[in-house]
Amino acid sequence: MDPGTIFWSGALVNMGVIVALAARGVRQIRRDEVAAHRRSMLAASSLVALFLVAYVVKRLAIGAEDLSVWSAGQRMNLYVHESLVATMLIAGVVAFTLGRRLAGTRRVTGRDSDPRAEPAWLRRHRRAGWLAVAGSTLGFATACGILAGMLNRAF
Ligand code: HEM
Repeated sequence: MDPGTIFWSGALVNMGVIVALAARGVRQIRRDEVAAHRRSMLAASSLVALFLVAYVVKRLAIGAEDLSVWSAGQRMNLYVHESLVATMLIAGVVAFTLGRRLAGTRRVTGRDSDPRAEPAWLRRHRRAGWLAVAGSTLGFATACGILAGMLNRAF
């Protein structure tokens, strides 16, 4: 198997863990377990950051994939996948930033002496959070198709 396929196999496992952590984070906030939600989402964000660093290293070490040997359908799936990952990254940064802003409020600390969270921050955080979760889930689904194509070409 070529180094690119080995790298993307690891990346798919990493993305599966990100999706599982995000799903757990959503379940936790639905039970109003704010601290646990925060931990799960921060763990998912760390794995996204780890992937970005690994991707830069991969590009420098072994370069980009040779898309000329991919079918038109596989290339289309790749572009859809990249758009979903971009959505996850942008919405994730917004959700993360708003989450940090919420951290000092009584919605998170539970202390009455702390300021109330602005309803608009909560609303925006929820929306951006859902967009990031949807982007990561659909990004994972399309990544399965990409890796299947790579394995198909390798064997
Ligand atoms: C990238 C990181 C994060 C993502 C993707 C994310 C995602 C989400 C999602 C999808 C919801 C809505 C759940 C629902 O509709 O039931 C939500 C709600 C919430 N999140 Fe996050 N979250 C993140 C980080 C954080 C952090 C760091 C904090 C706080 C320290 C936080 C605090 C909250 C709170 C308080 C709510 C409830 C909002 C409300 O009452 O309407 N989140 N988050």
